[in-house]
Amino acid sequence: MKPVLSIDNQRLVMIGGKGGVGKTTTAASIALRFAARGDRVLILSSDPAPSLSDIFEVSLRDVPTPVAGVPGLFGMEISSEEVLRRWKERFGPEIYEVVSSFAKVDYDFVEYIGTAPGIEEEYMLNYIMELVQSGTYDRVIWDTAPAGHTLRLLHLPGIFLDHLEAATKFYMNLYSTFDKLKASVKLQAGKRTLLQIISGWRELSQQVMAFIRDSETVANLVVTIPEALGVRQTERILSEFGENGLSISALIVNYVIQNADCDFHRRRQAMQRRYWQVLRERYGPEVSLIATPLAAEEIMGVDRLRAFARILFETGSVW
Ligand SMILES: Nc1ncnc2c1ncn2[C@@H]1O[C@H](COP(=O)(O)OP(=O)(O)OP(=O)(O)O)[C@@H](O)[C@H]1O
Ligand SMILES: [Mg+2]
Repeated sequence: MKPVLSIDNQRLVMIGGKGGVGKTTTAASIALRFAARGDRVLILSSDPAPSLSDIFEVSLRDVPTPVAGVPGLFGMEISSEEVLRRWKERFGPEIYEVVSSFAKVDYDFVEYIGTAPGIEEEYMLNYIMELVQSGTYDRVIWDTAPAGHTLRLLHLPGIFLDHLEAATKFYMNLYSTFDKLKASVKLQAGKRTLLQIISGWRELSQQVMAFIRDSETVANLVVTIPEALGVRQTERILSEFGENGLSISALIVNYVIQNADCDFHRRRQAMQRRYWQVLRERYGPEVSLIATPLAAEEIMGVDRLRAFARILFETGSVW
């Protein structure tokens, strides 16, 4: 029996991999498959150059929008600006309250913090976690989930919180020692409240990490190609996933030449098979590897996407 995609239970499916390997195609086929089963599905793209709109030929925005002609399927393309706007709306007032209690800052300071590395990545995950937990959708399919380098950025907000907590404690102690000083700075909240705010953020940050590590709720798919470059990138992504405590549900090896009927394609297929073997030996024991064929034409439109989904879920790996 050829390996097939087995993601029956996970409510969030994250699809990662390097540029142009077929992530959006995979995400869209999976979304169509679930929608056809009667699930309420949201397909979400956080790609700076999203192409879900092109694939479904609808104009998608920052809010879930029904995909015409596919009952149960909603699409959404969320930009960095929108993620940051929502982050500011939610955390801006609290951050300002904490920092302005010991430093003279304008509200613009919040904008500045928002540009710090890791904040956007963390908030994106936070947003998706809440979306999944809200139960509005049976399935959320995230096209272009965090790559390894993004996962590394997720540690930064925690470091920022450590600094903020240390600074808050330091100034709080100072204020309580010097009563006059305390009166001179407008202390807007009590010592405990400020530290409680910070520990609330930390808790949220930990919840987000625990959420994406939970393989019963989250399926991680990595898409790659059977070439030296693809193998190297896969190695990197998988080792960074491992370092962050994330496991991979399946590795999709796309663009494989299924039937070679000329010298050019036979040579190309032989090259691909070498890398396929490397991937199999390295990851086969732990991860389900699914080879998907290079089609003669690009995979646009619902019919071709459904055919691609049938390979993923029914016929299985073509090699
Ligand atoms: N197996 C395949 N056979 C033929 N064409 C394919 C196959 N998989 C993907 N394509 C086509 O290749 C192009 C790139 O695919 P896709 O947009 O899914 O990649 P991506 O990983 O999302 O790219 P990006 O990193 O730019 O977002 C598209 O035109 C798609 O239709
Ligand atoms: Mg894409």
